[in-house]
Amino acid sequence: MSVRVALIVGSLREGSYSRAIGLEMKALAAPELEVELVEIGDLPLYNPDLETETPPAPWVRFRDAVAETQAVLFVTPEYNRSIPGALKNALDVGSRPYGHSIWSGKPAAIVSVSPGALAAFGANHHLRQPLVFLNMPTMAQPEAYIGNVADLLDEHGKLKNDGTRDFLKGFIDAFSGWIDKTKG
Ligand code: FNR
Repeated sequence: MSVRVALIVGSLREGSYSRAIGLEMKALAAPELEVELVEIGDLPLYNPDLETETPPAPWVRFRDAVAETQAVLFVTPEYNRSIPGALKNALDVGSRPYGHSIWSGKPAAIVSVSPGALAAFGANHHLRQPLVFLNMPTMAQPEAYIGNVADLLDEHGKLKNDGTRDFLKGFIDAFSGWIDKTKG
């Protein structure tokens, strides 16, 4: 049976390396994983005062899109040793209104991406903290820290080497197994 997976990218940049890695993983996923990119760039900053009978349309669009999926793949860069604010905002928007979180129970996996050698380790692990609270069983192993990413992608955002392709294929296949094990 196929499983719908929301791909959430922590970068809003058009030429984002994280987005390119996420889209390459979507292409590598087995056919039973339907990976769908869910955009976060148009979400107004979370403000409880906007949580009326008619919340902002982008919030509704985002909540509905993620609610229709059974799992979430996060691919994110690191900003100042943590996750980008846009990604934290998306987590907050999806967590409310109270009692109606779109996240709860959904298995998750994290891929951190950086042009630097430290591979966004800080973002990878900071993201794990809210996911614990949001009740998202998050895959522990394998881990994915994609460093020196500029060397791994060509000018079209495609992976240049088989080693990285095999690693990311192994990761997305492991996530498929994790989803089977954890989904309700
Ligand atoms: C960065 N960058 C960065 N990189 C890193 O490895 N650790 C960090 O803490 C930071 N901090 C940081 C803060 C801010 C505000 C910006 C804009 C950038 C660099 C970052 O990894 C680089 O811009 C990537 O290209 C961002 O990922 P995308 O947009 O290519 O997916």
